[in-house]
Amino acid sequence: TPGPLADGFGREHRDLRISLTDRCSLRCTYCMPAEGVPWLPGPSMLGTDELVRIARVGVGLGLNEIRLTGGEPLLRPDVVDVVARLAALDGPNGRPEISMTTNALRLPALASPLREAGLARVNVSLDTLDRDRFARLTRRDRLPATLAGIAAAAAAGFAPVKLNAVVMRGVNDDEVVDLVRFAVAHGYEMRFIEQMPLDPGHTWDRGEMVTQAEILERLGKAFRLTEVGDRGAAPAERWVVDDGPATVGVIASVTAPFCGSCDRLRLTADGQLRSCLFARTETDLRTLLREGADDAALEAAFRTCVAGKKAGHGIGEPGFRQPDRPMSAIGG
Ligand code: GTP
Ligand code: 5AD
Ligand code: SF4
Repeated sequence: TPGPLADGFGREHRDLRISLTDRCSLRCTYCMPAEGVPWLPGPSMLGTDELVRIARVGVGLGLNEIRLTGGEPLLRPDVVDVVARLAALDGPNGRPEISMTTNALRLPALASPLREAGLARVNVSLDTLDRDRFARLTRRDRLPATLAGIAAAAAAGFAPVKLNAVVMRGVNDDEVVDLVRFAVAHGYEMRFIEQMPLDPGHTWDRGEMVTQAEILERLGKAFRLTEVGDRGAAPAERWVVDDGPATVGVIASVTAPFCGSCDRLRLTADGQLRSCLFARTETDLRTLLREGADDAALEAAFRTCVAGKKAGHGIGEPGFRQPDRPMSAIGG
């Protein structure tokens, strides 16, 4: 009988983040170089039957949250079918909640079909509300289309729609108050993210990073913030904005890491299981699967991966090295 996926530090794993593709329709400077990256070759990508089989084994081991990421997950042609098949899985901790983190560009067409297929929640990356800035930051002039996608998600009934902004000095750090006002006005949940060392140019600098403390200082000048307690395994710490009900969150992965309660595993689009965004090793489920492994062998591989998980990401510690793969290939 499958036991819990507990690691050497007693963390029981519940959450699987699946990258559906490494392709993206934007070129955010902090994620991809202008020319893109060498895309994963088609044959190395998991087919949908393969992906669903791996997820089924994971759900059988107690995973009950699945987040679809990319690259841009909506670029996978059969994304609606993928959602429907994942939503139908079942395991000792029940059916998985399926959610997605997307750039929203294809949501006007896909929000409703995805919701009908069983997608429960969507988070959207939105770093700025200024069109020129958006065009510089993403290297595509798509702010209006992004906003249309966010509106489509809300109109399709997704709630709460969470908006993610990676805060960057001299780029969008002067916009945090405006972003909260926008989110409050529309009923979205704004979240600000400390930038992690995942950029393509490896130029990340701890001293330059905009910290949670700085973000809160800026917000505190415009809003009355009341802390919401008990974040559980969630990465965001949250505050009620003024009299509510809106909240704002900060994901302080660097200055206040949530590694101690991390319950996440990641599956890359080419079938590698990772115990951490920053893990130095991957477990090659794709090869196992294509060599005919049975479910027991896949379960054992899940357990081995979890058993090798480190206590934390180690950012700032001696010997830390940025992952070899870019964020777009690991999955956001
Ligand atoms: P919710 O369940 O809606 O709270 O989702 P989420 O916040 O876990 O997912 P989302 O994809 O929206 O991620 C938001 C941000 O959290 C990302 O931009 C990352 O900066 C950070 N994040 C997500 N997963 C991890 C992780 O495994 N480790 C670390 N350190 N940060 C992560
Ligand atoms: N640090 C933190 N978050 C990042 N994202 C992309 N790159 C980084 C980084 N270096 C975010 C995106 C998206 C989420 C999946 O990851 O903005 O919201
Ligand atoms: Fe978990 Fe690694 Fe993210 Fe820390 S950095 S929360 S250990 S996946």
